[in-house]
Amino acid sequence: MNKGAVRLIILMDNRVPQASPLRAEHGFSAWVETPAGAALLDVGRSALWACNAEKLNVPVESCAALVLSHGHYDHTGGLVAEEALPAGLDLIAHPDAFTEKHASLPGGESRYIGPPLSVTQLSERGYQLRLTVDPVEVLPGVWTTGEVPRTHGAASTEPRLCVRQGEAFVPDELLDDCSLLLDTPRGWVVLTGCAHSGLTNVLHRAREVAKTDRLHAVIGGTHLVRADGPQVQEAIDCLRTFQTELIAPCHCTGPGAKRRLAAEFGERFVDTGVGTTFTFEC
Ligand SMILES: [Fe+2]
Ligand SMILES: [Fe+2]
Repeated sequence: MNKGAVRLIILMDNRVPQASPLRAEHGFSAWVETPAGAALLDVGRSALWACNAEKLNVPVESCAALVLSHGHYDHTGGLVAEEALPAGLDLIAHPDAFTEKHASLPGGESRYIGPPLSVTQLSERGYQLRLTVDPVEVLPGVWTTGEVPRTHGAASTEPRLCVRQGEAFVPDELLDDCSLLLDTPRGWVVLTGCAHSGLTNVLHRAREVAKTDRLHAVIGGTHLVRADGPQVQEAIDCLRTFQTELIAPCHCTGPGAKRRLAAEFGERFVDTGVGTTFTFEC
């Protein structure tokens, strides 16, 4: 890897693209390595992400910070792997990541789908929590988007996703959804968790925070899994607007949207899953 290069490794995803000892689960986690240090985005739904990291020789115990893209269990459940994470970890998230998230089930029941630990429990572990709606510079050249305004299209929220407020359940607007922005030698890279804000909104927010009209790569979950044709088309048009040269959707993108993106972008589309590694260098 050249000096100045930025490397990104998918530690957890819904699938492993090639036969390997790596394991998949419904979840997402990615490792970002820059000349200024390393950071994690999300930790999957269980401790499996840390097993994959070990098999991939990724020194996760050296990460400077963990960013949670949002509070859903498939991005935060892996916080149970305390031994894999450094003591005194910097943990960055939107404050709503720790609201009491539920999914309603048929028959009026609901299931808790939030983080496995509370803010108090994480603080008791010695973690330094930075809960903010604003963009954060995680490392030099690595930013969070902060809260994403829904100004360029609908958010990918669902009626079954809700938040408990006292005895009531209210719709979860998923304002906690944020992404990572990486300033690399090839240009800006957007790393999404689920993109619940809607991919077009995420990309416009990236433009605003990174102050750029070109987004070199978009990698991660896009939540197009239940999107209709026009919604997928809107995402495609937006990727074209930002002249995106590498499109690597995974996790909650869904097979239909993936096929469509692959057909649209040809060689610029990368089949992505656990173990997929991207190096951005001159
Ligand atoms: Fe999610
Ligand atoms: Fe997800």
